[in-house]
Amino acid sequence: MKKNKISKNWINRQRKDIYVRQSKIEGFRSRAAYKIKEIDEKFKIFKQVNSLIDLGAAPGSWSQYATTKVKSEKVISIDLINFEKIKNSHQIIGDFTDEQSKEEIKKYFGTKIDLVISDMAVNTIGNKNVDSIVTGELCLEAMNFAIEILQPKGKFLSKIFMGSSFNEIVSRAKKHFKEVRVFKPLASRKNSKETFIICKFLRIT
Ligand SMILES: C[S@@+](CC[C@H](N)C(=O)[O-])C[C@H]1O[C@@H](n2cnc3c(N)ncnc32)[C@H](O)[C@@H]1O
Repeated sequence: MKKNKISKNWINRQRKDIYVRQSKIEGFRSRAAYKIKEIDEKFKIFKQVNSLIDLGAAPGSWSQYATTKVKSEKVISIDLINFEKIKNSHQIIGDFTDEQSKEEIKKYFGTKIDLVISDMAVNTIGNKNVDSIVTGELCLEAMNFAIEILQPKGKFLSKIFMGSSFNEIVSRAKKHFKEVRVFKPLASRKNSKETFIICKFLRIT
C-alpha cells in the first residue's frame, strides 16, 4: 500500500475511534489512557501505591492517569523521546535500558517502590515479527528491573505482543510473581498483537 494511502486510512480510523474522541474530551494525550484505565478497574493496580515508574511514557497518557491515582510526587515518567512534562511526575528523557538511567531512577526513589508500568514498544519498522521480538526483549528488561526495584507487595504491568517471546515472558513472570494474568483491554485494537501482563506479589527467593 502506498504511504499516502496508509496515512489517509490512519486519519479515517482515528476519526471514527471512540477512544480517540474521548481522549480529546477528557484531556488525555492519547487513547492509550483507556487501556490502563480498564486494566486498573479490573485489577486494581493502583491500590496502595505511593511510588511508581512509567517506562516508555511518551506522549504521556499513562502517566497522566497514574498521577491522578498516586498522591505523592514519587512518580517517574521516562521515554527515549522528548515529551511535554506531566504535572506531579519527575521526567527522564533517555533509554531505560542504559545503566545510567537505571541508576538515576534508583537514586530518585532511594528505596523500593510499589509499581512498575511499561507500555514500551519499538517504533514500528513494519515487520510485525521483528517488532514483537524487540518489544518482548523490552518487556523482559522491564520485568528484570521490576524484580530488582519492587517491594515484596509490588506490582508490574507491561505491554507484550503475542509472538515468539510470549511464552518465555509468561513463564518468567510466574517464576518471580505469585499472581500473573494476561489481559487485552477493549481499548486495545482487535487487529493488534498487543496484550498486557499484570503481575502481583514478588516471590522472595
Ligand atoms: C506506545 S508508546 C507509549 C504510550 C504511553 N503509554 C502513553 O500512554 O502515552 C511506546 C513508547 O515506548 C518508548 N520506548 C521504546 N523503547 C524505549 C526505551 N528503551 N527506553 C525508554 N522508552 C522507550 C517509545 O519511545 C514510545 O514513546
